[in-house]
Amino acid sequence: MPKVIVLDSLSQDGIDLLESAGNLEYEVRIGLKGEELRQALTEFDGCILRSGAKLTADALEGNTRLKAIVRAGVGTDNIDKEAATRLGIVVMNTPGGNTISTAEHTMALMMGLSRNVAPAYQSLREGRWDRKLYMGTQLAGKTLGIVGLGRIGQAVASRAQALEMKILGYDPFLSAARAKELGIETCASPKEMFPLVDYLTVHTPLTDETRGLVGAKEIKTMRKGVRLINCARGGIYDEAALAEGLKSGQIGGVALDVYSTEPCTDSPLFGMDNVLCTPHLGASTEEAQTNVAVEGVGLLIDFFSTGEIRQAVNMSPLDGKTLETLRGSLNVSYRLGLLLAQMDKSPPNTCKLTFEGDVASKDTRLLSAAFAAGLLEHAMDSEVNIVNAEILLRERGIELIEQRKTDVGDFSSLIKAEVTSDTRTSQAAGTLFGKMIPKLVQKAGCELEANLEGILLLFRHLDTPGVIGKVGSLFGTHRINIASMAVGRQESKPGGQAMGILSLDSQPPSEAVAELLALDDIKQAWVVKLPPAQEMPSWMGG
Ligand code: NAD
Ligand code: MLT
Repeated sequence: MPKVIVLDSLSQDGIDLLESAGNLEYEVRIGLKGEELRQALTEFDGCILRSGAKLTADALEGNTRLKAIVRAGVGTDNIDKEAATRLGIVVMNTPGGNTISTAEHTMALMMGLSRNVAPAYQSLREGRWDRKLYMGTQLAGKTLGIVGLGRIGQAVASRAQALEMKILGYDPFLSAARAKELGIETCASPKEMFPLVDYLTVHTPLTDETRGLVGAKEIKTMRKGVRLINCARGGIYDEAALAEGLKSGQIGGVALDVYSTEPCTDSPLFGMDNVLCTPHLGASTEEAQTNVAVEGVGLLIDFFSTGEIRQAVNMSPLDGKTLETLRGSLNVSYRLGLLLAQMDKSPPNTCKLTFEGDVASKDTRLLSAAFAAGLLEHAMDSEVNIVNAEILLRERGIELIEQRKTDVGDFSSLIKAEVTSDTRTSQAAGTLFGKMIPKLVQKAGCELEANLEGILLLFRHLDTPGVIGKVGSLFGTHRINIASMAVGRQESKPGGQAMGILSLDSQPPSEAVAELLALDDIKQAWVVKLPPAQEMPSWMGG
């Protein structure tokens, strides 16, 4: 039974779901770091975490067991996704579960900051009744700038509109038309927005573009007394510049939930006036934690029971329905990769996949990845699957080219694969018979029909009388039973190049293959081993 490790505290509903899942074992091990974390991860098939545990490349180093990482929350910046992808580990998150809670926390910080709620209460605790010191600011009529108008940014916008604030927004992926529908006036850049706002809030991930989005230079362009809020990720605002801005009076207030380094217990901002800070509490509500834990555990349950991949952040999603409709074609693609890898050992520089007919309208990227997984499977020490196959090809300088043709030829769907090295190109084409029978229908320009399963002996020969009979009796002499045979020729008339494929009941000894190659008119021969037709790799839910 797959084993899951819980690395951060998870709501009880999530734990209860793990307990009742029936298809998973689990262990809760919170606070692991360094070598202890790396070692623990090698003992599990899946893991679930929030933002506390850090799954760095070092923590994942050498892991051959872990298949799925689930982030119960939005930000996956505590997971080295590139390292996970390289190891074939799918990373999924639960993006919607804490949207409202984080938007509400943003509003709470904005209001708390404007009305000095925290210092005013502190003064009461210290026995002071001071009504003059804590003069506040009304939100109605003020302009709020929002950088990042995804789920949380939009939820903040609608709440701020209810408070009669005017909203200016910037998001490179939100069209002006949609922004207008949401009642948001868009700016061409954050730079254009900064001088126009009384409050600024950011709701973007931390990226190369958003890191240091607001520093000393930007603060100078803002209205005097501007208030800045960050409930997204530390590092979007330069914390030292915020402290300077507060000191000079250019900034009227700062509210932070997130910090450049977390945990953060020591900051130049803590203890300053007009600052309101919380320790990354945006998603800390019972509702949000229940949502992300239940959703996250659900992702693991589905992944380990059916292979379904939802909300993946390092690959295309593979939901149950898509997986069901694609499974047969994924299997054909994967087996073409396995076949070509065993027939041509020269290092490829290009793989070209052409999808013809119905299959061309499917998610061909997944089908190409399945081909790449088959191609590399025997070459790699560690697992190759549709998560990491493409990146592994790219790392080896192998270009993956995809072509789609919706016209239907002789088959309603056809997958053609070509692997080119410096010296030659190997080609094969396959299709699906019924729902699950993977067939090879073209090899080296010869049309034929063979099941893509079991032990296959392929031989290139001259299309002359008697060749097939000689091959048959040779294997008879070696007591190798031939289950089926397919022959095809390159040209329509006899005498040219042809290809034969025997499906054998057992592995032929090397002497039999040597004797075959010694026969007149036999040019080349290959023995290829494929899994039984119904056997799928684990990443296909097998
Ligand atoms: P989202 O993916 O729905 O939205 C992010 C938006 O940022 C997208 O619309 C994207 O187009 C935009 N964006 C990306 N780069 C940008 C740039 N350079 N300039 C402007 N916009 C840009 O994500 P979300 O769920 O709204 O989460 C937003 C952030 O909040 C994330 O960083 C997430 O990790 C963080 N978060 C924090 C807490 C918390 O506890 N404080 C809780 C949940 C989420
Ligand atoms: C998130 O990205 O979801 C938040 O940072 C909340 C959390 O800590 O999980």
